[in-house]
Parts: sequence; structure tokens; C-alpha cells
Amino acid sequence: MAYKEKTMPHSERLKERIQKLKAENNAVILAHNYQIEEVQEIADFTGDSLELARKAANYDADVIVFCGVDFMAETAAILSPEKTVLLPAEQANCPMADMITAGELRVLKQRFPDAAVVCYVNTTAEVKAESDICCTSSNAVKVVQSLDADQIIFVPDRNLGNYVSLFTDKNIMPWEGFCFVHDRITPDDVNKARELHPDAEILVHPECRAEVVDMAEKVASTSGMIEYVCQSRKQEFIIGTEIGILHRIKKDCPDKICYPLSSHAICTNMKMTDLTKICNSLQKMSPRITIPGEIGDRARLAIQRMLDV
Ligand code: 13P
Ligand code: SF4
Repeated sequence: MAYKEKTMPHSERLKERIQKLKAENNAVILAHNYQIEEVQEIADFTGDSLELARKAANYDADVIVFCGVDFMAETAAILSPEKTVLLPAEQANCPMADMITAGELRVLKQRFPDAAVVCYVNTTAEVKAESDICCTSSNAVKVVQSLDADQIIFVPDRNLGNYVSLFTDKNIMPWEGFCFVHDRITPDDVNKARELHPDAEILVHPECRAEVVDMAEKVASTSGMIEYVCQSRKQEFIIGTEIGILHRIKKDCPDKICYPLSSHAICTNMKMTDLTKICNSLQKMSPRITIPGEIGDRARLAIQRMLDV
């Protein structure tokens, strides 16, 4: 046995250790669709922001190991304050979420007192606490349409805000935030990809710029894209989002051929989690994400309203 353990590759030993710690602590591993392959493979569930938020709220576990970025783990902690929420990669943040502060949002609310505030889930807990309702890329249009107000303060993603405004008569006022991964994809990238793969359909994430969204056949959240590719009769697709999603698509529908719209679409923050960090995190029950009482309570209202929509 000792000999077998010694000759077992390091990654296999790590996986065994993680499974043991998971069982001992009644833990579940949730991973975003952009995570690296080994993390997606060990996860109990892989999904987009909305699916992960729902899982975090409903999973019967004492510990949630969140393989993603900080706002996702915060959302899980807000929804399940009784659970231990771990973020194995402590430094994994979403730069877009830090592009608006609660103070800046309060100033905006004073200027437009009749407007409703919709915050993208990619925000801090403090910003969620200042918002009427939260949204993700898969339900942003539905969330905005569910509101009575005609004026909407939409934070922080200007591209998602502009995309939503295509589907409503409401006056959407987007904040000037953006995702550095999606915002750098250009119409030129789309033209080049079409030239290289003329039979492929183009799918893009709504965090892309309006001129890129205009050129796509389908706009969807990460899991929306996976579902679309798997159900389509077409064979080839160009995928306009972070390239980690290609592993998930290959796994779910191996007969389809997918090309990245831009090979530069890499979210470094989403790549910080690995098996070693997951194992250490389960061993030490840290880094733990907690949200202070009053902020957590107000943020929960905004997230719960979204889940109810
Ligand atoms: P999804 O909710 O579509 O998975 O998007 C999350 C995200 O951070 C996109 O950059
Ligand atoms: Fe944030 Fe963009 Fe990374 Fe998503 S891909 S976590 S929006 S920086």
C-alpha cells in the first residue's frame, strides 16, 4: 500500500485526498464554466453564475468550496450564511466588480431617486446591498422587464446594460464598467473567425461590445451557449467568451467542433484555482468568505428578488 501511494502520480493523490476531505466535512465543490480542466473534473457541479447561485442556495452540504472568483463565493455566503463558504484562490477577483463602489452608487441614487437599481451579480456585497434587484447574464432582460420603474440604473457593465436596452422601452442608464476579457474582442476578430470557419455559427456573451453582439448569431450566458451548441443541428461554432468554456462544451457534446473567437479571451482570475489550492482549503477550512450581518441581509434581498423572478 505504501509502495502504491509512493508511485501514484501527485495529481491522483491530490484527488483522493480531496474526495476524503469532502466526505469528512460534508462539502460540495462548485465550479464556474471558465475553470481549468482539472477543477471542472473534480467539481460536483459546473455552471454559469445563475446556476451556481441556485446550487449554493439549495445544496444540502455544510461546506461549499467555490471555484470561481470572489463575487461568486460572496453570493453563496450571502444566500447560505449557515454554511462555510471557501474560496480556494483568495486573490481571485473580478476587476469589473470593483469598477463601482457602494458610495458611487449612492450618489447616483440621489441624482435619480425614481430609478430602480439593477446590479449585475458581478458586484461587491456592498453594491448589492444598495440595489433593488440583482441579475446575471442569463436573466438580465427578464429582471429588467419585471420592474415597474421606467428608469433603470444598471451597474456595473455598460455592455450588458446596452444589450438589455435592445429588449425594452425603459430608460437604461448603464455605468461605465466593463469586463477586460470580453471588451477586448473586436469586430475584426469576428471577421477573421468567419473567414477561417465560414460554416460556423457565432455565439457571444452579452459582456461583449455592442458592435460584436450585432455580428453574432446567438447571444447567451456561458451555460446558455453550452445548451445552444448541444441542441443545435449545426456542427461548427465560434465561441465568443472566455476559453475555459471549450472544455465544458467538449465534454457535454463531443461531436461538435468549437473554435475560440479570440484566443486572448483568458480571465487570469478564473485560472487561479487548482487541485492543490482546493485540497489546502479543505484541509484548513480557509480562506473563508463571510459577509457582515446588515450588508448580507440587504444584499440577500436583492439576490432573492432575482431568484424569485
Ligand atoms: P455567466 O453567468 O454567463 O457564466 O458569466 C459570468 C462571467 O463572469 C462572465 O464573464
Ligand atoms: Fe470578471 Fe470578466 Fe473574469 Fe468574468 S471573465 S470574472 S466578468 S473579469
